[in-house]
Amino acid sequence: MAEKKFPKDFVWGSATASYQVEGSPLADGAGPSIWHRFSHTPGTTHEGETGDVACDHYNRYKEDIKLMKSLGLKGYRFSISWSRIFPNGKGKINEKGVDFYNRVIDELLKNEITPFVTIYHWDLPAALQDIGGWTNRDIANWFGDYADYLFQRFGDRVKHWITLNEPWVMAFIGHMYGEHAPGMRDIYAAFAVAHNELRAHSKAVEAFRSEGIKGKIGITLSNGSHDPATDSTQDVLAARVTHEFSNYPLFLNPIFKGKYPEHIENFEKEFLPKGYEKDMDEIKRPIDFVGINYYSGDVVKADPSSPMGVKIMGRGLPKTEMGWEIYPEGFYKILKGVQDEYNPKEVYVTENGAAFDDKVEDGAVHDQKRIDYLRDHISQAHRALEDGVKLKGYFVWSLMDNFEWAFGYSKRFGITYIDYKTQKRILKDSAKWYANVISKNAVE
Ligand code: FCB
Repeated sequence: MAEKKFPKDFVWGSATASYQVEGSPLADGAGPSIWHRFSHTPGTTHEGETGDVACDHYNRYKEDIKLMKSLGLKGYRFSISWSRIFPNGKGKINEKGVDFYNRVIDELLKNEITPFVTIYHWDLPAALQDIGGWTNRDIANWFGDYADYLFQRFGDRVKHWITLNEPWVMAFIGHMYGEHAPGMRDIYAAFAVAHNELRAHSKAVEAFRSEGIKGKIGITLSNGSHDPATDSTQDVLAARVTHEFSNYPLFLNPIFKGKYPEHIENFEKEFLPKGYEKDMDEIKRPIDFVGINYYSGDVVKADPSSPMGVKIMGRGLPKTEMGWEIYPEGFYKILKGVQDEYNPKEVYVTENGAAFDDKVEDGAVHDQKRIDYLRDHISQAHRALEDGVKLKGYFVWSLMDNFEWAFGYSKRFGITYIDYKTQKRILKDSAKWYANVISKNAVE
């Protein structure tokens, strides 16, 4: 098969998030986050698992960066735990939290790995939840101040910033379906959260510009390829509504165009917070790149009997351990779609990867299915590049197995296997395969 070459400066990386890998959530003066509180609440996670130890990255970050170096990674996307820096979410600063991220950043730079920092990956300080969390309009300022502080402390060395990770998931899985922290089930709250996330994102971008940081700032959005089940007008509309609601348009339409997507205004207006229109001018603000996360695709049927008016179905394709169908072509559609619809200056794939039931055999993990998944998806990313998508980098989810939120440690997404009993790291075959992709700057 022909080799698909990537551009010279293409950033090959891997991604993680603070609560999923660090462990030691309360160490050195950190305050509890909503994920600490949620996972310690009975009945919320797989077998009651928590992020108390996770991959112990808080203590083993040097070893992990060595591992990244051995794979030839050019970039590492990680998130900062808000409550390590501000234990109460605002006010008092915890220098020891700042020190930890200084050590991580310096170690990365020493190894010539570019840090991509996610300012917020779901672990809100619990103290802010007690005053309404993301449903409180004041959070735009709390978040703006927190982000501004990060720019002041790390902006000399960190040049790539992501304001929020997957605001849709945080709003709806956390506040409407109740499966993630803070475990609320209220559709009005969920839309208010999405709206406040946009306002908070905008405050952070404003602070970034006024600090004059020489770098780039963007936002990372969750996506699935939602295609119409048939070409009937109803199914086409149902798929479009699903796309606008749960993919990049819900956030990029306000950011790029200063209004919610057409069908959100048509069908969901009732749920948006009163007077939301007044905020739209402020939300519309240029960003430097868009981060795209993609895992899976499905098909959508109009279904008036269901609450959202749609029925989401599979195509009968093979699935990952998450039960998500493997649909690489959808990755192309999402990447092409975001460029066509909003024409961002740059696009990064900030997450893509798969969970499989990995087994250690004689000290190795032969995860051929993950290799196939990554090869097929990276090929589709290449196709998007050739068709004009301004794709600048690709970050595999994840560097290592970790705490998969409500699924605890039962799902393994890593290219590195973690033996949780010993904290031993074992490079899976997919890690070796990925190292080869990086060194050739090409996929077969
Ligand atoms: C994304 C999250 C990430 C991880 C992957 C599997 O939704 O951003 O933290 O859980 O899914």
